[in-house]
Amino acid sequence: SAAEKGGYDYFMLKEIAEQPKAVADTLLGRIDLAGNLCLDEVRIPASVLREVSKVVIVACGTAYHAGMIAKYAIEHWTRIPCETELASEFRYRDPILDQRTLVIAISQSGETMDTLMALRHAREQGAKVLAICNTNGSTIPRESDAVLYTHAGPEVAVASTKAFLTQLVACYLVALYLGQVRGTKWGDEILSVIRELSEIATQVDQVLETMEPVRELARTLADKNTVLFLGRHVGYPVALEGALKLKELAYMHAEGFAAGELKHGPIALIEQDVPVVVVVPSPRGRSVLHDKIVSNIQEIRARGARTIVIAERGDEAVGPYADHLIEIPATPTLLQPLVATVPLQVFACELATARGNEVDQPRNLAKSVTVE
Ligand code: G6P
Repeated sequence: SAAEKGGYDYFMLKEIAEQPKAVADTLLGRIDLAGNLCLDEVRIPASVLREVSKVVIVACGTAYHAGMIAKYAIEHWTRIPCETELASEFRYRDPILDQRTLVIAISQSGETMDTLMALRHAREQGAKVLAICNTNGSTIPRESDAVLYTHAGPEVAVASTKAFLTQLVACYLVALYLGQVRGTKWGDEILSVIRELSEIATQVDQVLETMEPVRELARTLADKNTVLFLGRHVGYPVALEGALKLKELAYMHAEGFAAGELKHGPIALIEQDVPVVVVVPSPRGRSVLHDKIVSNIQEIRARGARTIVIAERGDEAVGPYADHLIEIPATPTLLQPLVATVPLQVFACELATARGNEVDQPRNLAKSVTVE
């Protein structure tokens, strides 16, 4: 009913708008005033976490994209090798696991069959399993050694939005916690990122307040056949998520690529006026990432692409090559997906509406896939 949708036309719009609160709720009580992480609910003892030799993340769909981003954070802050794999691929390829492997299963519903089968297999091999889940008492957390709940609240729209942002928050918390427990040389950076993370809901809110031009742009693209998405580093999974949202909702051909792969194929797809969304890392921080993507934008624009650039506010280098510039607030490099994904959700939702599609119930898709 209209009341359930809180005055919004679709659950998806409501859930997009709820993201600052979902993010804040997922952080609540997990960072104290002194900036320490309080994750007692991760009931795997610190002594066990110190011995972990490998982290394996398994998930499906949008949760898999959260897991891809988590890999960058975990390897950087903890120096533990981490791999992220689609649960359906992981389960049936005889993966190497032992008692020192920490498996993280990410699932909004807690009922996705492929993810469940993957974690059962991991536990049979002696691995410890930590679930990141949004649904209290669902099967995946019940069968795991520990669970970190995301507090997104019920997500009704089939296409995941607020659950994704809270999965990212949970992943960052786990990565920072593992880094602290193990005492890496990134201690100071970890402390400053914890501080920035506790402010991030405000930045998500700022993004939401500036989305009207994104909606206008989306409406002008309703008759396009293809939209491409490019990103590097954590912007690469963001590009994949932007493309997934567009497929799910607008039924358009959409593909995400690692920007560094352009010359290995995707650049052949660039022709006059094809929209290409580029996620640009902060020009501060790891500036080499930024310089490389600026030259990627120049390359595709020289071939006629219509560039839609998502960049940090004040990033002057990208302006001249952006047909459309979508500005996002400054964040630490690894946290950028929390703000960079939001315009892509809005973009896909608006394009779906412009094409006359049912936003909350896209054709052929289910909210939770409980068969393999
Ligand atoms: C389905 C949903 C997606 C979701 C995926 C994984 O495909 O449509 O939105 O990302 O399942 O679901 P889970 O509940 O495990 O996060």
